[in-house]
Amino acid sequence: MTRPSWAPEGIDLDRPSASRVYDYFVGGMHNFEIDRTLARQIEAFTPNVAETMRANRDLLRRCVRYLVDAGIDQFLDLGSGIPTVGNVHEVAQARNPAARVIYVDIDPVAVAHSRAILSGNPNAAVVQADVAAPEDVLDDPQVRELLDLDRPVAVLLLGVLHFVPDEADPADCVARLQQAVVPGSYLAITHATADGQPTEVLEAQKLSGRTSTEIVLRSKDQIAAYFHDWSLIEPGLVHLPLWRPEHPADVGAHPESSGAYGGLARKG
Ligand SMILES: C[S@@+](CC[C@H](N)C(=O)[O-])C[C@H]1O[C@@H](n2cnc3c(N)ncnc32)[C@H](O)[C@@H]1O
Repeated sequence: MTRPSWAPEGIDLDRPSASRVYDYFVGGMHNFEIDRTLARQIEAFTPNVAETMRANRDLLRRCVRYLVDAGIDQFLDLGSGIPTVGNVHEVAQARNPAARVIYVDIDPVAVAHSRAILSGNPNAAVVQADVAAPEDVLDDPQVRELLDLDRPVAVLLLGVLHFVPDEADPADCVARLQQAVVPGSYLAITHATADGQPTEVLEAQKLSGRTSTEIVLRSKDQIAAYFHDWSLIEPGLVHLPLWRPEHPADVGAHPESSGAYGGLARKG
């Protein structure tokens, strides 16, 4: 297939990518037929997958608003994805125009598109890096220039840790990020799970292996452990629609059918 102008040179057009599959599920335009085919195959096993992904994006908005209202004006958004509606800098800067945001993603399409929409925004930037190498992120000159790590930062790990395999020790990656920030900082995590899901979710999980970032489904206890000793903000680690809903529509009829958990914690 021909490479569209928004896709950077050198990307593998014959392999689906997690960021473009997610983009498709949340209604974005930056995906290829190969991504949509995989998305439809995943959806055949897990019909609630698009709903879960939209619930993830909705939680992102509520969480960023909560954080700005709590006085946070610096965000490190890891696994930020292809920009779509309600990006972190838009939500944060709508409430505080001085809010600073660093986006980090491993995917070249996500990075290229983020760079394009951020041109002319002095308070936001994007870095291509692997969340499993936190020092590459923390030592990046753009991160050092834009974020003041002597002041509280919100570290967002939304929909990304399930792409970090056990061999890469996600708990240690998170701990290294936690150590790099000062008390008063926050950590938000959303993570896919098989808890309470039909067994077909395991077929969908296997299909994700067609991308370069296969999903690892983890239990509520495993996900809760990533917060280490930080204090969870009410209501704790819950199914996505149940995290501080702002309207009854945020919750829906069966919030427990969401295939992911989300939570936010503060460094004391
Ligand atoms: C499901 S999207 C989540 C986007 C956004 N955080 C949200 O919650 O709406 C996951 C993103 O994580 C990125 N990703 C996967 N593995 C990664 C890694 N090891 N390091 C950085 N980004 C990664 C993917 O490229 C994708 O863009």
